[in-house]
Amino acid sequence: MSLLSPLPQRELTLKNRIVVSPMCQYSASDGVPNQWHLVHLGARAVGGAAAVIAEATAVEARGRISPGDTGLWNDAQTEAWAPIAQFVREAGAVAGIQLAHAGRKASCATPWNGGRALAPEQGGWRPIVAPSALAFDEHSIVPEALDIEQIDALVQAFAAAARRALDAGFELLEIHAAHGYLLHEFLSPLANRRGDAYGGSFDNRIRLLRRVLAAVRVVWPERLPLWLRISATDWADAQRDGAGWDLQQSCALVEAIKDDGVDLIDVSSGGTLAKAKVPVGPGYQVPFAAEIRRRCGVATGAVGMITEPRQADAIVRNGEADVTLLAREMLRDPYWPRRAALELGLKPEPPPQYQRAW
Ligand SMILES: Cc1cc2nc3c(=O)[nH]c(=O)nc-3n(C[C@H](O)[C@H](O)[C@H](O)COP(=O)(O)O)c2cc1C
Repeated sequence: MSLLSPLPQRELTLKNRIVVSPMCQYSASDGVPNQWHLVHLGARAVGGAAAVIAEATAVEARGRISPGDTGLWNDAQTEAWAPIAQFVREAGAVAGIQLAHAGRKASCATPWNGGRALAPEQGGWRPIVAPSALAFDEHSIVPEALDIEQIDALVQAFAAAARRALDAGFELLEIHAAHGYLLHEFLSPLANRRGDAYGGSFDNRIRLLRRVLAAVRVVWPERLPLWLRISATDWADAQRDGAGWDLQQSCALVEAIKDDGVDLIDVSSGGTLAKAKVPVGPGYQVPFAAEIRRRCGVATGAVGMITEPRQADAIVRNGEADVTLLAREMLRDPYWPRRAALELGLKPEPPPQYQRAW
């Protein structure tokens, strides 16, 4: 098995193990994607990645990180995504999309405008919602705790967005339960202090995610793959922060959902704690993907500071992960898969329009 080996996923086949990781572009209006998204995602499909996963796309308006986030809660958004998904497919990549809810990290400025909480008069919104009324940090908005009816509605919002993703022509769906956004907030004892059926014990904290996966699987066809992105750890310092989400709980979660129709666990980390010390470096999250794959016997994706073809190839060859997801390196070079093929001694397969240049 190498970086350039195909990977069957239900009735689809990824042509290699290189996936464009979801990346917010903060460039939509009212959740509607536009030509920026077409060119950004389209270029990376032409570049030769096996799958291109569109950014964290909100399942409801208040679940956007910023006013520029994409959404999938209405017809205008579904219709605007359709030609984008079509282009990605026609360029030979699997068209994926990540469904998300920002939870207590909603209503913020774009990163290039500072990323801080936005007041309603600045284009932000209230309330923002979370498992508990705990702000992310001292600069953040205090969210409202969701009640049981709102939790039920949220499960339905994920399912409705999944249905819209299908209607728009996407073939791969990823549920975003990482990076300190809503679904991760329910998992982590640092953000979830509920005393009802959705908080406290491990089984209670994973309940919402399990419900979301089950509801999504009902509308997302059997023939198409469903992926789940998690943060393997909060990187909590037990002394300073108290007990957080960790690899042990990640493995227990994956064991619990193993038969719930999830085809790959995309293993990231962090996002719950503003002050977490993260040992960032080349491939720093790969050991988590490897451990979950080894312990739980599931397919995993490795992400985070994977930039070199030989590095990515080794991850697949060593059985640390089934796919590699690249984010920033794909921004620097949409043709990274071509570079990888050349470096690994294989012939790249360009689109026919580009064959004379290859
Ligand atoms: C501009 C940008 C936007 C991102 N948006 C998302 C997102 O929408 N969803 C997500 O799960 N991760 C998001 N991430 C994280 C990446 O998917 C990836 O996990 C992270 O950048 C580490 O990979 P890298 O070292 O290859 O960049 C984003 C990263 C960047 C740089």
